[in-house]
Parts: sequence; structure tokens; C-alpha cells
Amino acid sequence: MPPSSLQSARGVRDVLPAERATWELVEGAARRVARAFGYQEIETPIIEPLELVERGVGGDTDVVRKEIYLVHSRAEPDSRLVLRPEATAGVVRAYFQNRLDAGPQPQRLYTLGPMFRHDRPQAGRYRQFHQFDVEAFGSGAAALDAEVIEMAVGWLAELGLTGFVLELNSIGDDACRPAYLELLKAYYRPRKEQLDAECQRRLEVNPLRLLDCKAPRCQPFKAGAPRITDHLCPACGEAFAEVRRLLDAAGVEYRLNPYLVRGLDYYSRTVFEVSHEAVGGAQNSLGGGGRYDGLATALGYPNTPATGFAAGLERVVLALERQRLAPPAPSPAELAVLPDGEGLAVAAARVARIARGSVRVAVDYSGRSLRAKMRAAHRAGYPWVAIMDPAEASREVVQLRHMASGEQREVAWRDLPLALRTPGGPTPSRDASGGVRPAMPTGEARA
Ligand code: HAM
Repeated sequence: MPPSSLQSARGVRDVLPAERATWELVEGAARRVARAFGYQEIETPIIEPLELVERGVGGDTDVVRKEIYLVHSRAEPDSRLVLRPEATAGVVRAYFQNRLDAGPQPQRLYTLGPMFRHDRPQAGRYRQFHQFDVEAFGSGAAALDAEVIEMAVGWLAELGLTGFVLELNSIGDDACRPAYLELLKAYYRPRKEQLDAECQRRLEVNPLRLLDCKAPRCQPFKAGAPRITDHLCPACGEAFAEVRRLLDAAGVEYRLNPYLVRGLDYYSRTVFEVSHEAVGGAQNSLGGGGRYDGLATALGYPNTPATGFAAGLERVVLALERQRLAPPAPSPAELAVLPDGEGLAVAAARVARIARGSVRVAVDYSGRSLRAKMRAAHRAGYPWVAIMDPAEASREVVQLRHMASGEQREVAWRDLPLALRTPGGPTPSRDASGGVRPAMPTGEARA
């Protein structure tokens, strides 16, 4: 083994071919759902300016205070770039920088890709993870909040996941939240000494996050704390009611959670989170989001309402695996071409090229025996193999063998796409004139 300094970094993981099938399912469903709702794909860079993330996500969030990866090159040791910890700030930047704000509104965008947060790794929490992220710009309609929630839930349902829980809250806006925060501080100040150190700090710099605290010693105070939903201004109250009306009409189930405040600072009004106990522990949040009408102006752009959500793909994959909904690993290809003899590489490559007209094809170019090639094909799980010796190559035919049944027949190269296109592949006939050979155990294809 090479030294540990050559192993992968802590908290990152390789997605191996066996697991990629589940990822493809998850990503494919994400794209389908996004497109079905009229969202278009955007791809933004993984590196973004530190200032964008600080001003976007919020200077007092855990993400900015502790988890940011700074990036510099040897040529520019002082550059202030970061690996993006989330997609929203970058998508907002891209929306304005590329003048999407001048196009028809709302602009509905989605992206899939890696994010980076330096947190303590554990099951479901990684330092590089992937998000399905959806953003809608240029409309303050509460209906769009309900739309992104319906997408998030619809996507998980399409994957077959059950048992996830949607929690919903409104955290007000600039009109009503400041007064609420004063009430919250007034409630917590006499109890300050009983809070843990982090909450004592939050009380002064980011009191809303007091509601988010998971520390046991802070829990008893929550129940008596004023609830933001009792202090919403009429506009926020009506928007929240509208979101609930739309979700009810769509048959989307949710739980109201007046303590749900989210970990990033840009939200206003609707916030939501989807969690699943199969993911386990503190990392059971599959995704979350909400409205962030103030983010554009915080970044120096024109005032633009927006809403969105993001989900962690690792956690969705994990939930699918735990619910036994992950598909089995597929074989690398449907057909393996097994040349039996020397000097058959050109012919085997040609057979493969022809057969690729209908199926995925791999060629065994090794010099090992046919028996060994058959064993390897069996282990790899190819449903079909095409065996060919020099005499068959000169006649431009192969012996097409169905691995599970062991049935085998001669097929002309040019007929392979058709023969393999039949559902389940070619149906070997027992008719002697069809050239069928008797079934042979794997490894004895040419007795
Ligand atoms: P977030 O709640 O910070 O929101 O992240 C969304 C999801 O990303 C989480 O629910 C979780 O599934 C996944 N996630 C976060 N951190 C990790 C990690 N260290 N390891 C694995 N998965 C993780 C956002 O990022 C917002 N930008 C969502 C949004 C979009 N709001 C509006 N638009």
C-alpha cells in the first residue's frame, strides 16, 4: 500500500461503478422533475470569490465561520477564492452576471454538482458532497415556494422513498422579523447564563439561531420562547397561508415547525426542510430551502425576489439503499466479445463495433485461454458472449452464447445488432437448422 499521504483526503469518498447506478437514478429523476416544472440547467464554477460566499451565506453561519475551504494557487497565494459550500450564492451571481435578469421572469434554474464544507465527517456528512439545487428568480409569489417544495417532494416520491417528513415554517421578513428578534432576545436574556456558550454568543449576534440549537441544556427554554409565526406581518402571514393552501391542494403533507430556521442567513418568509430517519443521527436532513428575497441586494444587485431548495445526493442515495430501493449494479456491458486464438484483435474490434449498434459491448483482448475468458465474463456478469476462433472470423460469424441458459448459436456479424435487439437478446432456437449448439456449462463453450 502507498503511504497514507497518497490516500484520499478525509471526509471525501469515491463513488464506485456499483453505486453509480443509484446515483444515475437519483440524478436522472432530479433532471426529469426539474424539466417537468420548466427549470433549465445551469452550471456554475466550483470556485467562487470568498466575498460572494461571505456576503451571500452570512458571516455568522457555521458554513462561513468554520467550514470554508480557501483556494489559492502557488502563483497567487493571496487570492481570495473558495470552494463553494453551496450553490445558491453562485447561481445568483451567474443570473445577474449573465443578464438572465433581463430575460423573461421568473427564471427557473437547477444545477447538480459538488459542494465543499469542512465539517467533522460522519455517516451522511462529507467534506465534498453533491447537491441537487433548484432556484427560481424574479417572482415574489408564494406559489413559487410551494412549487419548489412540490418538486422536492415529487422527486423523492418518484424515487420510491417513503417515510420522509417535510417541515415548514415562516421566518418573516424585514418588516416583522426585527421586532420579533427583540422579543426573542428579551425572552432569552434573563436565561443567558443557563444556555451553552454557543447560544450565549448567538443571543447577541444571530438570535434566530437560538431556535435551531440542539444542545440538551438549551432545550427546556424553547417551548416558552415567542414563536415567529405569532408575530408575522400581514404580508408574511398571507404568504405563509398561501403556501399552505397550495401544498394542501397538491396533497403534499407537511408539519409546521415554528423552530425551523435553517443554517444559512439569507432566508426570509418560507423555510422548509425534508428529513428522513433512514439517514440517521443528526444528519437526517435530505434537503431544505426557502425564500431568499434579500440575497440579491445583499450582494449589491437589484432587489430580486427568489426561492429555492437543495438536497444532498449522498443522503438521498443512502436513504434509498437503506430502504432497499437501490438498483442492483448492472453488468459493464450486455455483450462480451471473446476472441479464441491469436491475431483476432482487429476482427474482435469490428464485431464489437457492429454489435454496438444495439447493445453495450466489451472485448476481452487478453491472451488468456477461452476457458479463462469465459470465467471472467461470467464473473463480470455479461448476459451474452460472442465467441470467435480464426475460422469463424474468416467466415464473419460468431457463436453467440446466452450465459444464463448456456444456449448458443451461430450468428453472422452483420446480424448481431438485430439478434441482440430482441427483448432480452436473441432467443436461441433448438432447431438444428438454426445452428443451435447444446447448452454447455460456463467455461466449456467450445468442448
Ligand atoms: P443546506 O441545508 O445547507 O441548504 O444544504 C442542503 C442539503 O445539502 C442538506 O439538507 C444536506 O442533505 C446536504 N448537505 C449539506 N451539508 C452536507 C454535508 N457536509 N455532507 C453531505 N450532505 C450535506 C443549502 O445549501 C441551500 N443553498 C439550499 C437552498 C437553495 N436554499 C435556497 N435555494
